[in-house]
Amino acid sequence: MANLTEEISKRRTFAIISHPDAGKTTLTEKLLLFGGAIHIAGAVKSNKIKKSATSDWMEIEKQRGISVATSVMGFNYGDYKINILDTPGHQDFAEDTYRTLTAVDSVIIVVDVAKGVEQQTRKLMEVCRMRNTPVIIFVNKLDREGRDPFEILDELESELKISVRPLSWPINIGAKFKGVYNIYEQSLDLFTPNKQRVSERVEIEDVNDRRIDENIGEKDAAKLREDLELIEGVYPEFSVEEYLKGQVAPVFFGSALNTFGVKELLDCFVKIAPAPRPIVAEEREIKPDEDNFSGFVFKIHANMDPNHRSCIAFVKVCSGKFERNANYKHIRTGKMMKFAAPTAFMAQKKNIVDEAFPGDIVGIPDTGNFKIGDTLTSGEQIHFKGLPSFSPEMFKYIENTDPMKSKQLEKGIQQLMDEGVAQLFVNQFNGRKIIGTVGQLQFEVIQYRLLNEYGAQCRWEPISLYKACWIESDDAEALAAFKKRKHQFMAVDRDGRDVFMADSNYVLQMAQSDFPKIRFHFTSEF
Ligand code: G4P
Repeated sequence: MANLTEEISKRRTFAIISHPDAGKTTLTEKLLLFGGAIHIAGAVKSNKIKKSATSDWMEIEKQRGISVATSVMGFNYGDYKINILDTPGHQDFAEDTYRTLTAVDSVIIVVDVAKGVEQQTRKLMEVCRMRNTPVIIFVNKLDREGRDPFEILDELESELKISVRPLSWPINIGAKFKGVYNIYEQSLDLFTPNKQRVSERVEIEDVNDRRIDENIGEKDAAKLREDLELIEGVYPEFSVEEYLKGQVAPVFFGSALNTFGVKELLDCFVKIAPAPRPIVAEEREIKPDEDNFSGFVFKIHANMDPNHRSCIAFVKVCSGKFERNANYKHIRTGKMMKFAAPTAFMAQKKNIVDEAFPGDIVGIPDTGNFKIGDTLTSGEQIHFKGLPSFSPEMFKYIENTDPMKSKQLEKGIQQLMDEGVAQLFVNQFNGRKIIGTVGQLQFEVIQYRLLNEYGAQCRWEPISLYKACWIESDDAEALAAFKKRKHQFMAVDRDGRDVFMADSNYVLQMAQSDFPKIRFHFTSEF
């Protein structure tokens, strides 16, 4: 299957992650410009607004000026086929981002040079670390006043808990910013503030080349040489192997808004970032170049039209070739399925495709068959490892306010949970349903969608909880004793697993010390 191997080696599937406002949208847009996928700056943002206007539910996000939707943008760059998986900018939808990270082969992290590492970046990095996802860091907004680059590097290491290695180096910052020295390619890129133009490159032999002095002045050239010497002394040589293992993150500096340093980032990215790699399923390791198709659902896009209960399931192709109208097995239900209108996402357009390869994302129109994490195969019984659920941060009881519509409410809750909008726990003591989210906005979205798509009305009741902990023990008696003692706080998740709903950190710590035989987990994958 030479064709398959070749297609796989071309694929680069990744996500850009950042704290809101660091420049993720701007960088995405500039990458699309280089790929010829869009022709004017501003297209990504304006497209977001247009999309949200198509559905009432999306009004919520429009009003708040945020993007709830996660989409895929594919484009060709040289010989490469690049798929960028967009992640929601708003932190209330962090759960969506966690899940998207399970479908990428690497990530680019954007950090604001003035703000350094912010909270959401730290959290997302934890997910990358759990999965050893290779990470490249882009330090953005060098055209603005910011922090000392060495200080930023130290912070990246300590806050993101990963070794770093600068592959480019800035010459001054803010108003005095002159450009970057590209360590990876041994070249000098001069900065001209211009949103549409690519930077000017000065060809040089090495760091001692006089042309550096001629272009940036002797003083800055001397400082640059000093900095570079320090870098060589402090940071070990960059190793692609360590990067691929997720042990070291190469760092680039630039300004996304000025399209500066972006091409250099992209050129290095396509060379070093991994093509789709083998994935360990429950049964065995699945290699991308196997003949048989396999893939999993990592995202389900909400009903866009409340009159037709249809959504789009996003499937990441893991192995083999996906073909339109072929028969595939939906492992959870055992049903064989055929897809007549799968879509691919190229240049921001959705087109029906006949085939897709590992690393690609296909959108499958669905009417409620799929759940997040479902596996599709050519027939083999494979289960891709469950995508972890993290303990939610906010909890509320959900109550029915229209007794005539309790069936609709049940169904709505079930489908929204299948989509992964939030997590449902049922308290075993009083039978009440608890919805857990990572942010307040999700409660509003759920209430709105239940009403608009299912005709069901609900209200929220406060409940004071700190964390949901999945518990287990090798000692059945100890487990039973724990559940008895904490019976008021025991719940089950949607898969029927035991969850201890701790109402404070103190209670949790006491429980951990009083019951040493119980293991407490903060994610559902252990
Ligand atoms: P996000 O997706 O990570 O939330 O960030 P986004 O790209 O929307 O960028 C946030 C703000 O930072 C935007 O300004 C954007 O123009 C600006 N920005 C991005 N990269 C750079 C850069 O390299 N230098 C400077 N100086 N600014 C940058 P805004 O005023 O919020 O939006 P807009 O009205 O300019 O679009």
